[in-house]
Amino acid sequence: MDLELAGKVALVTGGSRGIGKAVARQLALEGMDVAIGARQRAALDSAAKELTAETGRRIVPLIADTSSTEAVNAMVAATVAALGRLDVLVNNAALVGGVPSSDLATVDEAAILDDLNTKFLGYVRCARAAAPHMQRQGWGRIINIGGLAARQAGTIAGARNAAIVHLTKTLADMLGPAGITVNAIHPGTTRTERTAVGWAEQARKQGLSPEEFERKLAGQHAIRRVVDAKEIAYLVAFLVSPKAGAVTGEVIAAGGGPSRAVYY
Ligand SMILES: NC(=O)c1ccc[n+]([C@@H]2O[C@H](COP(=O)([O-])OP(=O)(O)OC[C@H]3O[C@@H](n4cnc5c(N)ncnc54)[C@H](OP(=O)(O)O)[C@@H]3O)[C@@H](O)[C@H]2O)c1
Repeated sequence: MDLELAGKVALVTGGSRGIGKAVARQLALEGMDVAIGARQRAALDSAAKELTAETGRRIVPLIADTSSTEAVNAMVAATVAALGRLDVLVNNAALVGGVPSSDLATVDEAAILDDLNTKFLGYVRCARAAAPHMQRQGWGRIINIGGLAARQAGTIAGARNAAIVHLTKTLADMLGPAGITVNAIHPGTTRTERTAVGWAEQARKQGLSPEEFERKLAGQHAIRRVVDAKEIAYLVAFLVSPKAGAVTGEVIAAGGGPSRAVYY
């Protein structure tokens, strides 16, 4: 299926590594030019260099902290200045897990506010800055990367992902008349270039070898393996294509079936 994305332009926040980088790669492989945003220059530049060499597309690295309105506005303006237009925004920048501790007695208020400022308000800022460019051309796509913690109690940070769901439907209603669709994707535990280190540490704490730990993790999913970041990217590529124009305000989980709960 031709996703009809060639020649379009995307901005992927948090595109220097992990899911964001996998998304930027896939969109570039579909023929898009892509701006990637993050805070740290070295990783961002190295991702841009790698993806340019791999895909032959223009990949523009933009330093921007999405917790700053000024930085977000400048990032969106720089995307349009460098690549000529903006068709697709992928809101992804945030730290996995968000708030380190969920212990009620000791949970750090500042950490909660920082996390919401990046993940929830950061997505709002980016959508607000990107929307006028899409509205002017009467077409656009916004994807909000949430997380399956939205559907599972137990972590304070899970609330941010529930908030992303609400934001997604609200933006879909606001922007739909201008030809813009807005959808959310919930990853579950997802393999990225960084997971091996974290899993090795968890394996050690549980007295397991890394292989045993990974087998245990895989066994907790209906598909009996852990989802890879590129599988999130395939879903993004479909949802931002003109062919997915009928889908908006939706939330799609791409976690490999980690939960036994049933959702309508
Ligand atoms: N991986 C998973 O298992 C998983 C599961 C559920 C949901 N998710 C969600 O998927 C998204 C990506 O996760 P990931 O695993 O790819 O994370 P990751 O490997 O830690 O990458 C996070 C990216 O976001 C950037 N970033 C973080 N804070 C930022 C800020 N304030 N401003 C701009 N950029 C910022 C990071 O670059 P800098 O540090 O240089 O800024 C990096 O590029 C997140 O929204 C996360 O909540 C991930």
